[in-house]
Amino acid sequence: MSGKHDNQVRSASDPAAITAAATILRGGGLVAVPTETVYGLAARADDAAAVAAIYRAKGRPDFNPLIVHITGIDQAEHLAMPDPRARALAAAFWPGPLTMVLPLRGGARIAPAVTAGLPTIALRSPAHPVMQAVLRETRLPLAAPSANRSGAVSPTRAEHVVASLGARVDMVLDGGACAAGIESTIVALRGNDTWQVLRPGPITAERIAAVLGTPPMIDAAQGIEAPGQMTSHYAPGKPIRLNAITPNGQEYLIGFGPVAGETNLSPGADLAEAASRLYECLHRAAASPLPRIAVAPVPDHGLGIAINDRLRRAAAWSSDQ
Ligand code: TXA
Ligand code: MG
Repeated sequence: MSGKHDNQVRSASDPAAITAAATILRGGGLVAVPTETVYGLAARADDAAAVAAIYRAKGRPDFNPLIVHITGIDQAEHLAMPDPRARALAAAFWPGPLTMVLPLRGGARIAPAVTAGLPTIALRSPAHPVMQAVLRETRLPLAAPSANRSGAVSPTRAEHVVASLGARVDMVLDGGACAAGIESTIVALRGNDTWQVLRPGPITAERIAAVLGTPPMIDAAQGIEAPGQMTSHYAPGKPIRLNAITPNGQEYLIGFGPVAGETNLSPGADLAEAASRLYECLHRAAASPLPRIAVAPVPDHGLGIAINDRLRRAAAWSSDQ
């Protein structure tokens, strides 16, 4: 990377950079940190001014609450009221790409803007060693949405963070490309033993159901409960056509399997590889001189459910908004 943000990006393999990041965070600053899903824009979750800086840097509407990152279930007990189901899911999937929406604990030291006034809090213990190291050194829960301007394509590389947020972030820890490449699954555990997936992700509903022993509740009238689930999101700023086999002359085709394309999510049709490359391919398509994007069909099972969820929202963007 080169240019005016050079000194802001530091290699996450340098222990001094982790210490510097923790110092910035404790002082109320913003640091972009790699996780196994996407890069997060972290700030201390107990400080109203630090949390306000996240919303400002992203241009994020303040009704959209943030995920709080923690070292594990022990820290969750201070912030939320996990029940046996939450403990079972934490044992099965933490650290990892699962976010749980749990009842907020009264008196929890969390800035009110983090939960946007909801009686619940979204918690995740990320698996990425860099985020884990930052959490340990900071010794604080960290609010961290994806490190991009609100509504835009999520970052899976340090370069994407710099391109989207520039000088709005105090430091970027460069940990290379994110392995999963798609945001965590968000599961809401509710009363009456019911649960729902609010955002599909790397941990499928089937795997959650296998741990909980009950199927998810389906409620078509649920509305926008995870406001990141707004129809238009992850938008590369160009019209997108889905389920395309051949591009028209104006389109940059993102392929999958045998549909080759300008770039390909996974030539071998592997859904985990496709998820890990999804945002990278959307960033490339956005940077191409071609004015439109087309995407090959991706099977709608397993990880494909999360990929198609993001693609539909990316395609919901229209140039007249
Ligand atoms: O993989 C991820 O989850 C990444 C990395 C950085 O950890 N983070 C991420 O955060 O995707 P963000 O802010 O882009 O998405 C947070 C989502 C939003 O859809 C938000 O509405 C939902 O979590 N959310 C947060 N708190 C919630 C709550 N109490 N109830 C329901 N949804 C909530
Ligand atoms: Mg996001």
